[in-house]
Amino acid sequence: MTFPPLSASPLFSSSRLRRLRATAALRSMVRENVLSPSDLIWPVFVMDGTDTEEPIPSMPGVLRRTVDCIGASAKDAYALGIPAICIFPYTSMQHRTQDCALAWSPDNVANRAIRAIKDAVPDMAVMTDIALDPYNIDGHDGFVENGEIVNDRTVDALVKMALTQADCGADILGPSDMMDGRIGAIRSALESHAHPNVTILSYTAKYASAFYGPFRDAVGASAALNGDKKTYQMDPANSDEAMRLVARDLSEGADMIMVKPGMPYLDIVRRVKTEFGVPTFAYQVSGEYAMILAAVQNGWLDHDSVMMESLMAFKRAGADGVLTYFAPAAAKLLNG
Ligand code: PBG
Repeated sequence: MTFPPLSASPLFSSSRLRRLRATAALRSMVRENVLSPSDLIWPVFVMDGTDTEEPIPSMPGVLRRTVDCIGASAKDAYALGIPAICIFPYTSMQHRTQDCALAWSPDNVANRAIRAIKDAVPDMAVMTDIALDPYNIDGHDGFVENGEIVNDRTVDALVKMALTQADCGADILGPSDMMDGRIGAIRSALESHAHPNVTILSYTAKYASAFYGPFRDAVGASAALNGDKKTYQMDPANSDEAMRLVARDLSEGADMIMVKPGMPYLDIVRRVKTEFGVPTFAYQVSGEYAMILAAVQNGWLDHDSVMMESLMAFKRAGADGVLTYFAPAAAKLLNG
């Protein structure tokens, strides 16, 4: 059987889109998005002790480090072109209390890590996490009274945390607690305490997600957590609500917006970017990392290709940057 040439068909549009995919040079000329190490923020876990790095079983390849090791790791990351690092403290059960007082101590492990990194690499941006969960005996991001996570008393504590972190040299504060009114309260406290230039990257659209499981192992929160976080973190079914939260946080003084988790929520990233046009970040969370690594370890996925494809997807969705445990590996690959 013979066929007439395709171009003879009345339906042929002569737009052969494959022409621009034919060679690597052509593909690179028409590529719409580029990933660079400067798009990456590296989340790290810090703990008490000296000269120790320990693995986190549910996050293969990710380490928990003592504060004396973190400066050197930050320096390596900065040399790879990664502009920012985000600190998460591991707190054992015996340091957790009902009043969460350790949260605003300048000598807690997170605040010591801020100073260690600023000493080692002054030009690197240091980001923090603001929430009570690493210090709370209940494992919640806010104070628990009669089974309820209370809002306003929690905000007072978050403000104290924020001011201590700013005093220790943090460049970017990351309120991840999802209490109402915290951005405005933190912003006014920064203004009145001589920290007008400290930026806030608000965890604005943070969903009550099952993808945070490995992170809670990494920071020692899995055992502590009583119940779930659904009365403050968002319902995964909602998207309009995220837009209301973004408008609210921007009006209260947030400089940048975060969507979290990342890969299952790229539609939210796109909506934030399109509707608000503000610096928008996505967090490729622990469970997303664990999922990819588990498949890699089984030989089912190729590590480097899946890592890069997943990170490019954030850029395509409109993200200005990504918090990712892959940051050093991805930056190494990008640097060639
Ligand atoms: C805590 C916090 C969480 C993450 C970042 N900050 C966990 C949670 O809300 O339970 C999750 C990050 C990850 O899964 O990689 N406020």
